[in-house]
Amino acid sequence: MTSREVRLFMNNDSFENEASLALSALQKLKEHLADCSDNYINISNESIQKLNSLKSKIVQNKFSEPHPRGPSEKNEKIKSLNTSINTDIRLINNNSLRDTAVLGDGNLDADIMFIGEAPGYEEEVQKKPFVGPSGKLLNRIITAMGMDRNHAYISNILKFRPKIGDGKQGRSNRKPSPEEIKSSMSYLLEEIKIISPKVVIILGGTALEGLLAINDPISKVRGTVHSLEGAKAIATYHPSFLLRTNNEISDKRKVWEDMLLAMELLEMEISDKQRAFFT
Ligand code: URA
Repeated sequence: MTSREVRLFMNNDSFENEASLALSALQKLKEHLADCSDNYINISNESIQKLNSLKSKIVQNKFSEPHPRGPSEKNEKIKSLNTSINTDIRLINNNSLRDTAVLGDGNLDADIMFIGEAPGYEEEVQKKPFVGPSGKLLNRIITAMGMDRNHAYISNILKFRPKIGDGKQGRSNRKPSPEEIKSSMSYLLEEIKIISPKVVIILGGTALEGLLAINDPISKVRGTVHSLEGAKAIATYHPSFLLRTNNEISDKRKVWEDMLLAMELLEMEISDKQRAFFT
């Protein structure tokens, strides 16, 4: 049995050059193996390190280039879904919701979709989901995962803010009723189908109840991977829960563990630093 040390030479070059050098080195290696009698190879430690670093750059590159927006079939489908929501949902809900629609937002080609409960005051003002305090925390979580909001699609079970009394509710919010959740679900399931993410992150108990018909506490459900409209779905605590239990580092750690699970499901590279958060 013979062996030969193979070195993959890569400069500290641009990502594209590095990738193409690695590709041509691997091609040469393939040709060499086809021509000779070697039946195993040694790759130098240096080359292994370079390949690993290249692999993480490929993964980072995949997640750092937002998919281009623009006219697409998905765009048309989402537009038409949003028109249906705007013209339909308030009738179904018998005027128990406020008037302003807060529709799903983000990258239509996202691999990851976050789903919360319902818009609050800030969301209604800006007509965008998760832009208030919970949204700011969600943004920080997404950034810690090595992405930004433009890589994700963010939505809620309800697209309208639940009304309290005559609607003069200031910043107060209420939890959606089971009827409101039920009547919103077909729209949300359609939305997930259109976006077709690889992973859905269910934020909090209301979204869990609506999407998976599970009434157990998040503490019991988190860590389990469910299947939802062709995607893998996991549940974690809602960011507003983390804001309420501000001093509880253990809750933050649990959410972070759930995000590491999501990153694994997405086959993202996880750095030692990311693994060590909250330890
Ligand atoms: N909480 C939610 O569940 N959704 C939002 O959009 C904002 C806060």
